[in-house]
Amino acid sequence: MRCIVLFVMFCLLSCAVFADEERPADDGKEGSELRLVIMGPPGAGKGTQAEKISKQYGIAHISTGAILRAEVAKGSKLGHQVEETMKKGELVTDDTVLRLVEERLRDPDCRDGFILDGFPRTIAQAEGLEKILERQHRGPVSVIDLVVPDEALSKRLLARGRADDTEETIKNRIRVYHENTAPLIAYYKKRGQLIRVNGDQPIADVFSTIMSELTPPE
Ligand code: AP5
Ligand code: MG
Repeated sequence: MRCIVLFVMFCLLSCAVFADEERPADDGKEGSELRLVIMGPPGAGKGTQAEKISKQYGIAHISTGAILRAEVAKGSKLGHQVEETMKKGELVTDDTVLRLVEERLRDPDCRDGFILDGFPRTIAQAEGLEKILERQHRGPVSVIDLVVPDEALSKRLLARGRADDTEETIKNRIRVYHENTAPLIAYYKKRGQLIRVNGDQPIADVFSTIMSELTPPE
């Protein structure tokens, strides 16, 4: 009799483990992760807001710009490859950033969710992200788009003074944004994934607007 009880318990346990492996992360049950993207032109406040959102929800903040700058600072092979491109304010290749993001999303700190800052930046990257999420059995992202007029951007960036915050490079980064990244607004709007937020207000107000958009009213 004891053997039968033990056998039944073993079967039930195996089924539970197997079912857990097969279950996609986004099953709407307790513990499901928060998957966010924050987009907007250079200087829109993506990094500033992503940091606050990541702290608020305890999710990973993934900035492709910061990852690439760290590679440049380390003097790695990748750093050497991307240094000139970043200095000019051009885009690093889609394959490079997609590889970095896929790897980073597997890290344990992304288990409860993540906010991607500065990625995707092209339609190809957005399509690549969808495939990555499918491969990782994760659901789609919600996309926060920070809306700030061009005139306010250069003023903010010149005051900050990062290596790529020179007048010429800022101009190019804004041009590259309009040409390659702005089409993502329509892309995500069409899919019902877009949350547009006025980024041209004090930092605390932008944050509370984002919070009110992310938290559904009771
Ligand atoms: P990345 O690092 O992503 O730079 P960016 O998009 O140009 O944006 P910034 O980081 O300059 O601005 P932000 O929107 O984060 O604003 P922040 O919060 O810092 O990319 C750099 C480069 O890496 C690219 O040019 C490219 O070469 C490469 N790269 C990165 N990702 C890539 C990808 N996916 N594909 C290909 N290439 C890629 O704020 C800016 C300033 O404004 C701060 O001083 C802040 O304090 C201030 N500020 C913020 N909010 C406000 C506010 N509401 N009011 C007043 N001031 C504010
Ligand atoms: Mg940034």
